[in-house]
Amino acid sequence: MRAFARTRLSIFVVALLLLVTLVAGGSWLILLEARGAEPVSGPAGAILRATVFIALPMLALLILLARVLKRSMATEDELARATAAGRVGTWTYHPDSGMAYVTASELVLLGYSETRKPGWYPAFANIHPEDVDRAMATIAHACAVGAHDCRNIYRLRLSDGRYVSVEARGVIERDAAGRLLMIHGVHFDISGRIARKAGSNTYGLLPSLKEQALNAVREGVLLVDMVREDQPVIYANDGFLRLTGYDEGEVIGRNCRFLQTTDTDQPAVGLIRDALAEGRSVRVTLRNYRKNGTMFWNELSLSPIRADDGQITHYAGVAHDVTEAVEGLNKMREAAYQDGLTGIRNRLGLERDLEPLVSHRGARLVSVVLVNVRGMGALNESYGMDVGDRLLASIARRLRAHQGTERLSARTGGNEFAFAFRAPTLSECEQEVAELKALLAEAFHVAGGWTTIGVSVGWATTIHSDEAGALMRNAEIALSDARRSAAGTVCRFEPALAIATQQRARLVAGMREAISRDELSFLYQPIVDLKTGRVVQLEALMRWHHVTYGPQSPAVFIPLAEESGLIASLGDWGIDRAASFAATLAGESANPIPISVNVSGAQFGTTPVLKQLQAAIARYDIAPNRLVVELTESVLADETKLIGQLREIRDAGFKIAIDDFGTGYSSLSYLQNYPIHEIKIDKGFIRKIEFDSYSVKIVRMCVELAREMGCSVVAEGVETAAECQILRDIGCDLAQGYHFARPMTGDQVCALLRDWAQGWPGDGMAAVGRRSSALARD
Ligand code: FNR
Repeated sequence: MRAFARTRLSIFVVALLLLVTLVAGGSWLILLEARGAEPVSGPAGAILRATVFIALPMLALLILLARVLKRSMATEDELARATAAGRVGTWTYHPDSGMAYVTASELVLLGYSETRKPGWYPAFANIHPEDVDRAMATIAHACAVGAHDCRNIYRLRLSDGRYVSVEARGVIERDAAGRLLMIHGVHFDISGRIARKAGSNTYGLLPSLKEQALNAVREGVLLVDMVREDQPVIYANDGFLRLTGYDEGEVIGRNCRFLQTTDTDQPAVGLIRDALAEGRSVRVTLRNYRKNGTMFWNELSLSPIRADDGQITHYAGVAHDVTEAVEGLNKMREAAYQDGLTGIRNRLGLERDLEPLVSHRGARLVSVVLVNVRGMGALNESYGMDVGDRLLASIARRLRAHQGTERLSARTGGNEFAFAFRAPTLSECEQEVAELKALLAEAFHVAGGWTTIGVSVGWATTIHSDEAGALMRNAEIALSDARRSAAGTVCRFEPALAIATQQRARLVAGMREAISRDELSFLYQPIVDLKTGRVVQLEALMRWHHVTYGPQSPAVFIPLAEESGLIASLGDWGIDRAASFAATLAGESANPIPISVNVSGAQFGTTPVLKQLQAAIARYDIAPNRLVVELTESVLADETKLIGQLREIRDAGFKIAIDDFGTGYSSLSYLQNYPIHEIKIDKGFIRKIEFDSYSVKIVRMCVELAREMGCSVVAEGVETAAECQILRDIGCDLAQGYHFARPMTGDQVCALLRDWAQGWPGDGMAAVGRRSSALARD
């Protein structure tokens, strides 16, 4: 506009000069000729003629030019009037001077057309004082980032003192070096648009009362221009500045993603992106960072603002700091994943964190190791629960220290811990499991002393399952297998184990029906006095004939009954049957022999065994010493709490025998601590006494010790006459085994006892064995 004005001025001056020269030259020529002077010759004549023949047409040309100029000036006026009708004003801003060239259209827009002329005025004089900083900041930012244009919304003061909201759009002109020269721009009066949308989209252009109201709210309120490149913020209320710690100048003109800093890989950011692309409203909660770097959770609601033609021109955003609520919730959620006693993960926490460990394992194997701590019941019983808890906490601490950042540890049950890790190969997994076991084998300092723990370990790897849930299940199957063996057993999952587990589950289901379907029975195996050859006792051995699967081994179904809790009803059934058979025998003989019945350690935990025994002898009217309670040594090792119950049983007149003696760890101490009548030496020793002098020594020692303690000794699993002889030489009282008799039915036992009531068979022991074997086969 300024260039155009300059051109117009120069044309005018040149035309004027030409005119003056022409008029002066013409007048002089006319004057000379009027005086009758000689026609002018020489240079003067040439000028005269040139004036007449060249200047006059030029004059005509000039007049024409002037008319054109006049028309162009009229066109500019018309433009000013036209733009004013459209409420548009044009301007040019010169940043170096801070001045703006205000055109006629701008003057019309502002109501100064009568009082001011187009020209240079201070650039920001008419902008509302509250909007000046923002307007400057927008320009400064656009210039700083090398933008080609800039855009803003602010209020301009009219000649009558009122304000009008305008949208400013400018094109930035730079020199070859990129230095800012000018901004050529327009102001659109958008107050009409705002008035039509009153109450909603009034951001940044408000009557100050509304703006004050917006600034009073706690939430951050934002207005983003969706037309401009990279969707910059064009308005931010005080709440937003307070929330983020940034100044207005640092926010206006920028895309809000700067609040995410480098934390842009958040699901919520994707949700925003999709909503903006589809022109929808959206509400998300995402992590944002204040100017001072602290993180806050921003609950952000975004809504589109549309122009009359339906186009989205802006988005309004409301930002709400919900850090406290989110962190409170996170803490609660975290607590649900944590074991209260030890502070490490619980089962849920392990399952949650195992998932990513498995899915991001790459070419490595993930292993889950389950560790069952044995003997906790006895420890709690002897030293109190708090000591037991302290031990568990120490175990957890040790596991956590071992886990580092790459592995997981958890307490998955009362006495059960889990450890998960990744390793490249199976042998490295095995090594890691061995290290873990060694770690737990070191003594723990609890209740002022040092103690070691026995553990059963079951583990599985992703070789057999690539899903976290299946991996856990496989580790559990392996642990169940390890628990069935002695302490210290480590069992790795194999598919065969899973099949066995399924079979076991089917058996447990069948066992529930076994009593009602009358599938259980007892066989009785005689115990013989080695000196006299008389049958002095019977051991009742439970048998189960499954309706579909046929006979089941007690070595399988008794542990299953213990695991599943069915041992309580099986045990009760067994005591009842044994008492019933003892009564049958009492009816047959004046001096009936006692019957040993196996009682599982698990029964002591769940049922009052003494009451069951007393109820049974009362039911069948027999003396308590007709029943011998037979316990395995391993049960005693785990359950020192049994002492009290066993004493009560002994005091009530029942006898107590220890089965499988010699297979435990501290057998001799039982003889001192437990109220025992009889020990039964494990057949493992007896089988070797013919060839192994060490076994002979052990058996001899047991016999001597038992005698010292006033216990009788039964040698189990005697199968040969030679074994009988050695045992007799050692001084062992009693024996049981196939050499004498296989387990037999109650009727067969009665027949055998009737035979022997007449006296010993003539050929001694061998005859006893033959006879009983024949009976057992019948
Ligand atoms: C946003 N955005 C945004 N982002 C953020 O982290 N904190 C915020 O407070 C806001 N506020 C906000 C207000 C309004 C009105 C809009 C339209 C958007 C989102 C941000 O600007 C951007 O859209 C998202 O980061 C997704 O786009 P990019 O980063 O993938 O380009």
